[in-house]
Amino acid sequence: MLSVSNVSMRYGAKILFEEVSTAFTPGKRYGLTGPNGSGKSTFMKLLSGELEPQKGTVVRPRKLGVLSQDQFAFDPHGVIDTVIMGNKRLWAALQERDTIYAKHDMTDADGMKLGELEGIVGEEDGYTGESDAAILLQGLDISDELHSRKMGELQGGQKVRVLLAQALFGHPQALLLDEPTNHLDLDSIHWLQGFLNVYDGVVIAISHDRHFLNSICTHIADIDYETIITYTGSYDDMVVAKTQVRSQIESQNAQREKKIAQLNEFIARFSAGTRSSQVQSRRKEVERLQVTELARSNIQRPYIKFEQKRPSGKHILELEGVRKSYADKEVIRTFTASVIRGEKIALMGRNGAGKTTLLNALLANSPTTPEAELRTTSGCDGAFIDGGKVIWGHEASVGYFAQDHRTLIETGTTALEWLHQWDPSASNEELRGILGQMLFAREEATKSTNVLSGGEAARLLFCKLMLQKPNVLVFDEPTNHLDLESINALNIALQRFHGTVLLVTHDHDLIDEVATRIWHFESDHKITDFKGSYEDYQAAVVV
Ligand SMILES: Nc1ncnc2c1ncn2[C@@H]1O[C@H](COP(=O)(O)OP(=O)(O)OP(=O)(O)O)[C@@H](O)[C@H]1O
Ligand SMILES: [Mg+2]
Repeated sequence: MLSVSNVSMRYGAKILFEEVSTAFTPGKRYGLTGPNGSGKSTFMKLLSGELEPQKGTVVRPRKLGVLSQDQFAFDPHGVIDTVIMGNKRLWAALQERDTIYAKHDMTDADGMKLGELEGIVGEEDGYTGESDAAILLQGLDISDELHSRKMGELQGGQKVRVLLAQALFGHPQALLLDEPTNHLDLDSIHWLQGFLNVYDGVVIAISHDRHFLNSICTHIADIDYETIITYTGSYDDMVVAKTQVRSQIESQNAQREKKIAQLNEFIARFSAGTRSSQVQSRRKEVERLQVTELARSNIQRPYIKFEQKRPSGKHILELEGVRKSYADKEVIRTFTASVIRGEKIALMGRNGAGKTTLLNALLANSPTTPEAELRTTSGCDGAFIDGGKVIWGHEASVGYFAQDHRTLIETGTTALEWLHQWDPSASNEELRGILGQMLFAREEATKSTNVLSGGEAARLLFCKLMLQKPNVLVFDEPTNHLDLESINALNIALQRFHGTVLLVTHDHDLIDEVATRIWHFESDHKITDFKGSYEDYQAAVVV
């Protein structure tokens, strides 16, 4: 049983939710929804025990499997270890045991401790831990050769599978997943849907992906109006039910307001006169009718607008025979293309096909990409490619949105200060204006970068691009973490942008509506270059 009672959370003036009581039942699959920054990840941390509620209590089953929103957190660890870490008690015991065994001279106390630790390892099935982990990984389609690698060496989709194995390790009774489909390609998402639909414990999944929620959820727990309301059905059912309930309350309120106005008018007119008992009873009725104040919905729309400080030359980018392998693994086999200013290119293909690799090659050879950004893209030094040429055109200035965008925003500063460093000459008004457009109004602008939610971090990076006004936008999965309103705003901003766009995304609407050219990464490491929309591309491929 997983339940919360009278749980409240607020940060400063911002109330996330108040007095929430709700229960999650085995066999049911819940979507946890709400706009960016509404408190989904926070609520999940309350459920998992990572955070304590400021008020109220949480009851959890003994074993919980958790997939956190930060999919890069385990990068320095090995794959098998990462899975075993899913059982915290076992992992801690194994670590301590190894430290004791590594000692030169063991004391009696060490010996006692070892006995105790071996007991825990036994209880937690630790002796078959590695093989159990391997079996889980195989089930999740992570081949044996990857088991000895470090997490940092895996592609986004593979990483998520390993982290899922971590969540599943040790047979949890409930599975808590924070944005599991981020960084997954369509095939992997379909696989995950199938997997969750037959899982027999409680599933609670945070996602901004409507299709995904519709396919897995039996219930939706929606964070809005400073509370959490559970609806039966999938995401689309919730949207319908929510608008119905809302408009019902609103119309009741409107009727009551009208009645109150009439009564007040009577009271005003006759209060000085002889009808005092009638006035008195009407006063009472007004009190009774006092309109219940509606909590405001927290759905807000950001306004994204990308402008160019200066347009680039017409021939913005030339690729000549670009090749790239990692060790003996070929990723890109001689790719040649030339890009004209204003083209909007969607890079498509399965997880691990080499999309990010190609973007890294472009960035490593760009004169305007700051060192700090390159450092975060793995192994991106020098020219990065093994052969061929990347030539940027006249006046090209590149704005970059990395797949791992969270690491581009260092902790220990505020949103406003972080943004300011990218243009020290910008005025406070200008910075505040941009931040306001991206929903960091007033005190939100000075909020610490340590606490930004996934979507807030993405919005802050858009602020940077709106400030710098580059003429080429290189975006690696920009819609991960974004809520529906923000994805729409991004879609419109990219359509209206006059510069050049290179875009990796698994969001089909975005590809359909923005792309004027497709680079499709094939399984034989070649890239198909198609000049036209995705719709035209599909028609051409089918023929
Ligand atoms: N320790 C903290 N101090 C102050 N504010 C915080 C703290 N932790 C989180 N917040 C704020 O609380 C809000 C909710 O954060 P949370 O990460 O739960 O959002 P979310 O719903 O998961 O959003 P997203 O969809 O973007 O992932 C955010 O505005 C965040 O900045
Ligand atoms: Mg979150």
